Amino acid sequence: MSMQCSDVEEGGGAVESPPPPSSSSSSLRLRSIESTLVIRQLPSHGLSFQLWPAAAALVALLDNPPISISSLFVSTSGRLRLLELGSGTGLVGIAAAALLGADVTVTDLAHVLPNLQFNINANAASLALRGGVVKAAHLPWGDLQRMEDLDLDLEYDVILGSDVVYHDHLYDPLIQTLRFFLLGNGNGNGKRKSGVFLMAHLKRWKKESAFFRKARKFFDVQAVHTDSPVNGSRLGVTVYKFVRKELAIAC
Ligand SMILES: C[S@@+](CC[C@H](N)C(=O)[O-])C[C@H]1O[C@@H](n2cnc3c(N)ncnc32)[C@H](O)[C@@H]1O
Repeated sequence: MSMQCSDVEEGGGAVESPPPPSSSSSSLRLRSIESTLVIRQLPSHGLSFQLWPAAAALVALLDNPPISISSLFVSTSGRLRLLELGSGTGLVGIAAAALLGADVTVTDLAHVLPNLQFNINANAASLALRGGVVKAAHLPWGDLQRMEDLDLDLEYDVILGSDVVYHDHLYDPLIQTLRFFLLGNGNGNGKRKSGVFLMAHLKRWKKESAFFRKARKFFDVQAVHTDSPVNGSRLGVTVYKFVRKELAIAC
């Protein structure tokens, strides 16, 4: 893996029994651009404010991609345009923009956006190296109005996601969102839609197979990379490529 990550707690005084940190920062080295990202986490605020293993695995892959992955990141209209779903701390989207010199829209629920924007601002120097630009937007999965707003004048080349399959009540809204951005409101008509959804996922529960079963009704889903298990896990993070069914043979 080409990315190094180390946790550094902010502040920290000499107290006997310190409470759990309310804020910590992780440094992530991107070797291909010889730069380091710093990502603020707020663990006491919930799961949207923590770094998840799939995010680190996807960034490592983008930092040192095999041809099968790098060939996906080809712009159809000049600048590469990416959309990330459920960005959390923003690590994946910020790293993708910095590594690929891309325009990236990172998205999440409204209460997550201030920390996302904080992390975008904190990494301005790394983003500037290749001209990457990141903006944060509110996108609750399945919210048609928000999806249309984001889709107004942009067509995305690639959609990204890491660790977005976990609660089963979110499977349908996530698939609706993928149908909107990859198929065009689910019917495949209208203007050209993003070619591919690249999703990093660490399998935790059997129930997750229901997500893949539902997704395969609309998309061809292939595992394109699997990491070795780490930290005592039985499985490693897998990166999946989703494409609309009729494009599956060509991609
Ligand atoms: C497990 S976290 C993963 C965060 C980040 N992608 C990572 O890998 O570090 C799942 C993310 O999905 C977001 N999320 C959950 N439900 C959502 C919804 N209905 N619409 C949009 N985002 C949602 C959460 O706020 C959270 O940031």
